[in-house]
Amino acid sequence: MGNINVADRINKQLPAELVKFLQLAGGAAVQRQQRIFLVGGVVRDLLLERPIIDIDLVVEGDAIKLAEGLASLLNGEVIARSRFNTAKIRWERWMVDIASARSESYSFAGALPSIQTFCDIHSDLIRRDFSINAIAVYVDPLHFGDLIDLYDGQADLKKGFIRCLHDQSFKDDATRIWRAVRYEQRLNFKIEKHTLNLIERDLHYLKTISGDRIRSELELCLKEEKPQISLRRADELGILANIHDHLIFREKSFRLFAKAQGTLEPFSAPEEFYLALLIYDLTTEQLTDFTVTLNLPRSVARVLHETLQLKDKLPDLAGKEPTNSVIYGILHHFHQPAILVNLLVTTSFTVKKRLELYLEKLQHVRTTLSGEDLQELGITAGPRIKETLESLLEARLDNRINSREEEIAFIKQSKAS
Ligand code: CTP
Repeated sequence: MGNINVADRINKQLPAELVKFLQLAGGAAVQRQQRIFLVGGVVRDLLLERPIIDIDLVVEGDAIKLAEGLASLLNGEVIARSRFNTAKIRWERWMVDIASARSESYSFAGALPSIQTFCDIHSDLIRRDFSINAIAVYVDPLHFGDLIDLYDGQADLKKGFIRCLHDQSFKDDATRIWRAVRYEQRLNFKIEKHTLNLIERDLHYLKTISGDRIRSELELCLKEEKPQISLRRADELGILANIHDHLIFREKSFRLFAKAQGTLEPFSAPEEFYLALLIYDLTTEQLTDFTVTLNLPRSVARVLHETLQLKDKLPDLAGKEPTNSVIYGILHHFHQPAILVNLLVTTSFTVKKRLELYLEKLQHVRTTLSGEDLQELGITAGPRIKETLESLLEARLDNRINSREEEIAFIKQSKAS
């Protein structure tokens, strides 16, 4: 490839504020006799002319000192530094990551990289996952926009290939197997044949990755615009079964994911719904294994378990003419996401209607009288209050009483009886 320069694309595709920032960063690095580059996803997306969400910079030498200098020029702050010698600069509404160029080694398969040494950009690029993510762009004023493409990333972008850089890549970091699938499906690319063979060979290394890291890969997958295409591919390649033997993603799940898009989003985080759809055909025991393996937060595990509990109760909602209070009694223990997922999955028209009735109306029904009102009406404090409020609500739900006056009459009558 000749000397490609993407300065024009940078100016066209990045917000003006970030272009100004790059110029500032390039100048500051030169003053410190450092070379600085755009790397990773931003370069890939620049070349593909895709929207750019965030930018990553790599600098040869100390990233943190440079970030501190830039933050003070911008009246911003450095908000994160990690043991990988990376810094996040935040100013106004912008955020940029700067890392020191580094080479890495792994003490065992599945471990996070342990040995970090400062190096030049070339050695930094070789530790990366795929050729399309291993292109760098100079940011200093003299070479602004020049590409460094040591692994023919541009050719793979043209051909639509996801290609790893060496045969140990997935052993070094098996999360890259998930990444390969995500990029392949997001960009409508193909995992190149040799890389695919390596994935098949090294699939078992996924077992060496901590639950937290796998969870985070799965979450990233669920954040994709169409997670179902990545999940179908992950199933096909045996990646899902690597999380749990019984986790599958076939046609039915694919359809449900597609149906979920748009319909459920306003109510809650879609990832939670997607997870609930993903585990819908597991047994309770299998779900427990799944949540433990992935170390899911308790709140998420609860929604998933509730989803299965409610699934078991759906036949009760299909019965002949249950009263409103019976429907309420079945559903009010469940949180909304579990109900919505079951609403999406059920094929019974009757069950659907009753779930909707609960969501739209019954869950909002309240008594106007409070516990204090009941005491004033002569009900003794203690469990009697709770019981009376419950029967009052039941009568309200079933439209036996419809006003405050009727509630008071109801209390007086139940006291007398
Ligand atoms: N990277 C890697 N191996 C990993 C994770 C990241 O080599 N397991 C490198 C890649 O060069 C990648 C860069 O770090 O491009 C940044 O990683 P990340 O922010 O996760 O991905 P992006 O490329 O920015 O892609 P996305 O659009 O998915 O955020």
